Amino acid sequence: MRQLIAGMKISIDGKVEGPEATADWVEAWSEDYDLTSQIDACLLGGGMFPGYERYWTGIQNEPKTPAWITGEPPTPAEIEWARFIERTPHYVLSNTLTSALWPTTRFIRSLDEIAALKQQSGKDIYLVGGARTTASLIDAGLVNELRIIAYPLIAGEGKALFATTERRHRLDLRNVQERQGGRVTLIYGIG
Ligand SMILES: NC(=O)c1ccc[n+]([C@@H]2O[C@H](COP(=O)([O-])OP(=O)(O)OC[C@H]3O[C@@H](n4cnc5c(N)ncnc54)[C@H](OP(=O)(O)O)[C@@H]3O)[C@@H](O)[C@H]2O)c1
Repeated sequence: MRQLIAGMKISIDGKVEGPEATADWVEAWSEDYDLTSQIDACLLGGGMFPGYERYWTGIQNEPKTPAWITGEPPTPAEIEWARFIERTPHYVLSNTLTSALWPTTRFIRSLDEIAALKQQSGKDIYLVGGARTTASLIDAGLVNELRIIAYPLIAGEGKALFATTERRHRLDLRNVQERQGGRVTLIYGIG
């Protein structure tokens, strides 16, 4: 069965974004979880999808122009991810969104459709976020692995990754890796 793998960049107090609705401590939104070679689909919540589509369309169209959110020119890894997603199916969990710019986008209306997607043949699926969707899919038992990049920062105010989680989940630590700038990658299996 295909694995559903969540990747999130969080502050040490578990925030995915600050009060301005962006994580301004994240300098690039590239796929930094070493997932690209093992996935062939992405899954996102309807809350984050419009901003995600805008951010990556901007980089696809103008790879030398400072990107919305970071305000910096895209990094080589961001340009690589922008190219990868041009050819990669994106599934968006939403009961309200109906249209997308990218022809590779499909809307998903129920968690049963995600369970069915995992049964199809193919590589693993990257759960890109956001917070509510990740918490909800973990509660539903659909997420197999959680890859966290923890930034050395106490963000204070902001949106917490697990604010809407409804029950306890034991995690199985699979790997820890120290990264540049005091960041740490933590990989957990979810039972
Ligand atoms: N730090 C990071 O690595 C990272 C990564 C990704 C995102 N983010 C942040 O996360 C924010 C978005 O997160 P979010 O929590 O507001 O929204 P979200 O998880 O992207 O989307 C939530 C939406 O998904 C739809 N949905 C349908 N069924 C659902 C279900 N069973 N459970 C949950 N959602 C369901 C609903 O949309 P409908 O109302 O359309 O049905 C719901 O409003 C972004 O602003 C972004 O900054 C951070």
